[in-house]
Amino acid sequence: MTSTTNLPGPMDPLDQLETLRAAAPDQIASAASLADLDDVEAVTVGKRSPIAEARRRLATVPTENRPAVGKAINDVAKEIGRLIDDRRTVLAIEEQNALLAAEAVDVTLPGRRPKRGTTHLIQQVMDEVVDIFVSLGYTVASGPEAETEFYNFTAMNMPNTHPARLEQDTFYLDYGENPEEILLRTHTSPMQARYMEEHRPPVHVVVPGRVYRRDYDSTHMPVFHQIEGLAVDTDITFQDLKGTLDYFAKEFFGPETETKFLPSYFPFTEPSAEMHAYADGRWLELLGCGMVNPAVYEHVGYDPDEVTGFAFGMGAERLAMVRHGIKDIRSLYDPDVRGLEQYR
Ligand code: PHE
Repeated sequence: MTSTTNLPGPMDPLDQLETLRAAAPDQIASAASLADLDDVEAVTVGKRSPIAEARRRLATVPTENRPAVGKAINDVAKEIGRLIDDRRTVLAIEEQNALLAAEAVDVTLPGRRPKRGTTHLIQQVMDEVVDIFVSLGYTVASGPEAETEFYNFTAMNMPNTHPARLEQDTFYLDYGENPEEILLRTHTSPMQARYMEEHRPPVHVVVPGRVYRRDYDSTHMPVFHQIEGLAVDTDITFQDLKGTLDYFAKEFFGPETETKFLPSYFPFTEPSAEMHAYADGRWLELLGCGMVNPAVYEHVGYDPDEVTGFAFGMGAERLAMVRHGIKDIRSLYDPDVRGLEQYR
């Protein structure tokens, strides 16, 4: 082979460049992705390509030939570089289009409806009871479930000997200075005392909340819910109590609902009563109530000679069971949502 460049070596690098120049266009055209094209670029014009090899060997070319040989190398490199750049532009557009096609959103597809949840029946009942009293001008308050024996019992005029204080009735917490000082509240009534300590009369407040007793059967759960009510002013009478609670019963169970008040006993009210309502052909006990016992006023710093008022407390589970004819309280806490879904 006659050398035109005087480059030594087994094969004339310029011949290699001719081979490269002939083969590169096909190689570049058949690169199917940008990554492929990077590989083609590496073997055609990259560091280990015939171009790089030719440039390295340029030093061995006689000086007079060097400009011509150098130009020839550059021409091939430029020509191949241009082809690679053009192909890169085409491939980049193709890949972008493929990505857009793959990520396309079909805005004409129907939406996916989220599964509709429901407020728990107990919460519904509490919300509804609270709403009825709010419509009468009552405010809403809440208090601690871990309560002191003072608020739960003493302030509510339940002396140390009261049977409700016994361990078989109450969950005591291993907390506080003395044994049996902190407990899970057995009713929402301690909020009567807490609220009166913080507010001067007139007071009209309802307190929905969770309460605890050591009870378990078809009508009792160890955790249940009450709504407490308290109205204190200078001239509130038992007639106000009856009118308010009768109004509540008619709002909650319907305008035809009849009510009656039977004498009862609670240490924190005097006189005390149970309100029964006539529903589904029978009389049902709905709640406990009474005129606030003056002893309670003394515990909270109210003057018993200046104020009068009434209080009431009702169980949310009981209201729900009466209204919907639910026989077993435990079905309210059944984790199978199909039961509760009936009461949307
Ligand atoms: N706290 C009483 C109970 O849990 C209910 C009640 C509240 C009675 C307020 C009278 C006045 O049984």
